[in-house]
Amino acid sequence: MRTDDVFGSRPSIVGPARIGPWLQKHLKPYRGSLLIYLVGTFAWQALTAAIPRLSGAGFDAILRAAPDVNYFTHLVAVLLLVVLVRGAIGIATTYTLEYIGNGVERDVRAALYRGLLDKRQAFFDRWRVGELLARATGDAGQINQLFQPGLEFLLIAAYGTVLPLIVIGSLDPQLLLAPIIFLAAFALAVRRHNRRLGPVSDRLQQRAGALSARLSESLAGIDLIAAAGQRAREGRAFAREACDYRDAFIRRGQAQARYLPPLLVNVALAGGLLHGLLLVSSGRLTIGELVAYLGLIGLLQQPVEALGVSVPLIRLGLSSARRIVEVLDESHARQERSGGHRAELSGEIVFEDVRFAYDDTPVLDGVSFAVGRGETIALVGATGAGKSTIVKLLNRTYDPVGGRVVVDGIDLHAWDAGALCSQIAIIEQDVTLFARSIAENIALGSGPNIDRARIERAAREAQAHEFIARLPDGYDTLIGERGTTLSGGQRQRLAVARALLTEPKILVLDDATSAVDSQTDELLRRALRRLRAGRTTLLITNRLAEIRHADRIVILDRGRVVDQGRHEDLIARCAIYRRIFTAYR
Ligand SMILES: Nc1ncnc2c1ncn2[C@@H]1O[C@H](COP(=O)(O)OP(=O)(O)OP(=O)(O)O)[C@@H](O)[C@H]1O
Ligand SMILES: [Mg+2]
Repeated sequence: MRTDDVFGSRPSIVGPARIGPWLQKHLKPYRGSLLIYLVGTFAWQALTAAIPRLSGAGFDAILRAAPDVNYFTHLVAVLLLVVLVRGAIGIATTYTLEYIGNGVERDVRAALYRGLLDKRQAFFDRWRVGELLARATGDAGQINQLFQPGLEFLLIAAYGTVLPLIVIGSLDPQLLLAPIIFLAAFALAVRRHNRRLGPVSDRLQQRAGALSARLSESLAGIDLIAAAGQRAREGRAFAREACDYRDAFIRRGQAQARYLPPLLVNVALAGGLLHGLLLVSSGRLTIGELVAYLGLIGLLQQPVEALGVSVPLIRLGLSSARRIVEVLDESHARQERSGGHRAELSGEIVFEDVRFAYDDTPVLDGVSFAVGRGETIALVGATGAGKSTIVKLLNRTYDPVGGRVVVDGIDLHAWDAGALCSQIAIIEQDVTLFARSIAENIALGSGPNIDRARIERAAREAQAHEFIARLPDGYDTLIGERGTTLSGGQRQRLAVARALLTEPKILVLDDATSAVDSQTDELLRRALRRLRAGRTTLLITNRLAEIRHADRIVILDRGRVVDQGRHEDLIARCAIYRRIFTAYR
């Protein structure tokens, strides 16, 4: 179900009630800083509101019949002090908020990454990598902006409205008339603005996710796209996606441009001036108080603009938080019991009536077989029979839907996943390598402290040393992402070396030598045979030469075990087995 609408039109599974506590949890370590910030910003705004008041007092002092020079110098000194202190507080609060915002961003990103590491394969079957990338990078960053400047401007809006109003009220309560009419109109306009902006913002983020998903998919399959002559088509499809993204941006810009309040402030200023002049002419107000009053109304410009910026940012931030929680809350978390069973494996595997389905189509339908300690079993079956799926149940990539898998007499669920998997080596059809050095790739399963001599010995045994030695930096050669700079056979030999190094108790070879040319094939197979000695081995292959070495052959057909036994007996009695052999010989 890897479609757009999984993330797009599907109604969100995460309600607002989940976002609040989640954000609170991440804010908890910053409670102290947040308090400092709240108090600091309050002080900053209070000092800001004091400035017009002080200037007004200055006007009155000068306009008096006998100006009081002493009082006037005093006022200027106070004004200077206010400005200096306010500047210092501004620097401190900005720093504090940066600290909070970036801290929360980092914590959220780390939590998301840990959450992803805990997901089962079924989760990654459903989600596109690019979509996850967009959420881990873009959305986590957006949470930072929720604080800086989202919260910052929201506070400016709140304090910056209330504090000037208090000062205006102290001048003359009648003067509150114009600002209060203005605020009522302002509240209505903001509400309307929010309604318009909400859906547009959600769509913007959705498009960002889709764009990133498309890009990462195309890059992952760039060789295929070029080989299939699909470059132009992919280019056009990407351009369409990019246009969608641009359109979403423009639509948000349009919605933001229709923000009315800045206009309202000027109307309020005109109304205030008229009201103030009337009060001056009736002798209720001094000129200085009028100056202070107009300065204070002018301050209302600031919250209006701040709210215009902060509301979209907070909206985006909350919607990003929702998108991250969506990933974290999606089921498929590994059900790992801490303190599961840890022990050295002896290597006995039993599948008991195991049933499994990827989505709804059954893939394994009552599979039962047993592998004794040190035994080599060949799993044989047509393509799509479910052989690789059995491997994925063994290393707990997926869990069975019915029945159980037992290793050394203990249900897989009761095992400590780490202890179990570190003793099972799987060499797959498709070898995964990381964009690190060759040596690191070989030592992947063996911990960080493994010495170079052992890595080299394993590589020699896996017939990999020769080609590694020819690489420019030998074992320190960095290989491209997914091992793109190596051939299929070279990649498999690295996988064999990796397996040799971990000294596993259970070995699974899933078509392990299919990509190796026939000459090395023989050498490598000899190495693999040595690797198999004394280990329980599950051999998935349809090559007769390999199957002959197995102690027993299990035949799988459309998710069922149809027969098992030795080669000679099966050839004689099993039609499916004969059919596979005529097909693959
Ligand atoms: N991740 C997946 N999601 C959905 N269906 C899957 C997935 N992986 C495999 N299948 C389906 O499950 C069935 C069994 O697949 P499996 O890979 O186990 O076959 P196989 O026996 O290993 O085949 P082959 O010999 O080609 O490797 C197939 O029909 C396949 O389409
Ligand atoms: Mg397979």
